[in-house]
Amino acid sequence: MTEKVPDTPITPSDLNSDLTARLNDDQSRHINERLMSAGRVLFRGFPLESTADFAKAVRTLGGDPLPYTERSTPRKQLESGIYTSTEYTREEEIFFHNENSYQATWPGRLFFFCQRPPASGGATPLADVRQVTASLDVGIVEEFRRRGWRHIRNYHPQIGLPWSEVFGTTSREAVDLYCGDNGIQTHWNSDGTLRTVADRVALHRHPGNGDELWFNHIAFFHWTTIPERVIGVLEELFGRSGLPNNTVYGDGAEIPAEVCAHIREKYREAATRFDYRRGDLLMIDNMLTAHGREPYEGERQIAVAMT
Ligand SMILES: [Fe+2]
Repeated sequence: MTEKVPDTPITPSDLNSDLTARLNDDQSRHINERLMSAGRVLFRGFPLESTADFAKAVRTLGGDPLPYTERSTPRKQLESGIYTSTEYTREEEIFFHNENSYQATWPGRLFFFCQRPPASGGATPLADVRQVTASLDVGIVEEFRRRGWRHIRNYHPQIGLPWSEVFGTTSREAVDLYCGDNGIQTHWNSDGTLRTVADRVALHRHPGNGDELWFNHIAFFHWTTIPERVIGVLEELFGRSGLPNNTVYGDGAEIPAEVCAHIREKYREAATRFDYRRGDLLMIDNMLTAHGREPYEGERQIAVAMT
């Protein structure tokens, strides 16, 4: 993967602002143009230290932060709309994804704030989605355009997040209502566990420039993307059809393993990475840039917000 800071970082002298107060029109235009052309902007050297500083900068750059809905990973809320990055074992990579591209709606901008860089690794690798879209095999893309994709999720009490946490309620009726409004079918099992099925499209247009983009969790949630030793245990416990997450074609047919291998390869080819420094603020356009997480050593504190 290319070792590269996302273009040249924007610094306090470029902007003549500390990011905690409203930007003027020229400053906003400059930042928005950079974001649209590169898909990501790194702000470096700003006097941002606390979570509250981060929250102010997010409001300056993207407006009010959104709550994290339909959760797929454990996070702690630090303050309103500000979360820890996914609390997922440090030895494992988190594969490239566009935040919440399995939902009916998703955030436009994501913000990552480095409060403590890890001893090694732990970058947020970034993949250029325009490059991914252009480099995918045309036959594979057309197949998904025609058939769509399906996200199947099984909420097991002993693994992953319980449905009450994912949907933020203990009421089944409230879950049914939310899911009905968001294109998700619910199936309540006799043991009280939940299975959800959502049919989604694989390509979406960017609202800013109309580009058609590969924007989905097809490879991310597919069983072949889970590390081998983990998938072995999960399949033993739940079987393929009971996996916490899996994807199939929109008509329910299996997606061949080699198709997802090809998709993963194209994300990796389109990726760059850089090492965080304390105080770095990374802003990405969630549709133009996919992000992941490298394994790391040491303590790592990255706060995240979405707008
Ligand atoms: Fe993410």
